[in-house]
Amino acid sequence: MSKIGILTGGGDCPGLNPVIRAVVRKALLESYEVIGIKNGWKGLIESDSIPLDINAVSGILPKGGTILGTSRTNPYENEGDLLKLKENFKKIGLDALVVVGGEDTLGVAAKLIKDGLPNIVGVPKTIDNDLSATDYTFGFDTALNTAMECIDRLHTTAESHHRIIVAEVMGRHAGWIAIESGIAGGADVILIPEIPIDIDEVCTTIKKRHSRGKTFSIVVVAEGAHFKEGATVLQEQRLDSFGHVRLGGIGEALAQEIEKRTGYETRVSVLGHIQRGGSPTAFDRVLGTRLGVKAVELIKNKKFGRMVALSGIKIVDVSIEDAVKALKTVDMELYDIAKVFFG
Ligand code: F6P
Repeated sequence: MSKIGILTGGGDCPGLNPVIRAVVRKALLESYEVIGIKNGWKGLIESDSIPLDINAVSGILPKGGTILGTSRTNPYENEGDLLKLKENFKKIGLDALVVVGGEDTLGVAAKLIKDGLPNIVGVPKTIDNDLSATDYTFGFDTALNTAMECIDRLHTTAESHHRIIVAEVMGRHAGWIAIESGIAGGADVILIPEIPIDIDEVCTTIKKRHSRGKTFSIVVVAEGAHFKEGATVLQEQRLDSFGHVRLGGIGEALAQEIEKRTGYETRVSVLGHIQRGGSPTAFDRVLGTRLGVKAVELIKNKKFGRMVALSGIKIVDVSIEDAVKALKTVDMELYDIAKVFFG
């Protein structure tokens, strides 16, 4: 009997457990044995794994997060870790590995395939929805709906107090959560990393809205957005093992500028990890399930080095290497639609 490993790496997101459940259920039907690798690549470096049988995945479909745990460990940070990872792959006796991750985790998978561990298939995840090879990543829909609900809530308090409220949402390189939650939540201004913030334009838009009698406004800003004349706002300079800084704080900087320039009382609400938690929506449960089943089919057909992806309404497979080459940023046609409702 062949052994399949599965790991989840990078930031967690709703939909990971449906994928794990689907991989285990389909793999058992195909007579594979399944091993869960704990905490992303860290689990392979430390040989930390658990057998996954049908009972281990029973009841996990509606649960957020990942029963396997996750980490942002990069085995390419030092050579010793890479050697340990390769040794443990053999020691655990894996014949194939399902890697569930975003650009960083799948980027490691693409390198490992070239470095002597070819039997890998990928499953794309991220609330940021910024992987170009798939139309949607699971996790995004849940995060989007959470952000939309928060914006609805912010509306009622902003209106009662006659305030501007800036809602800072996640989105490191791409403003998908900002643009879609902003459209769905009826935001008056939406700011995304793809378009540098013109603070004069933002204030003019808000003032115009107030001049037609409105006494409150909602501004949605993605954490990765930056002023035209400034750098991205960071929470700390330290880099993680994939070279990323910790974002956060653009909402506060923006609120201060808006209040200073318009004279309207302005507050900030940073949604943060609230967006990554909670039970996956039906869309994310179904997408995760479809991707998990197809990942096992790729292994069965020995289509290694491939990543399952959503293309229109079909699940297809693409090369992992190609999938991590470019990020998917917000479509400017969608931004133009959002702009119709600014102010
Ligand atoms: O990659 C998804 C993401 O949610 C980004 O939007 C955000 O910048 C980052 O993860 C936050 O990561 P952490 O959980 O390490 O704070």
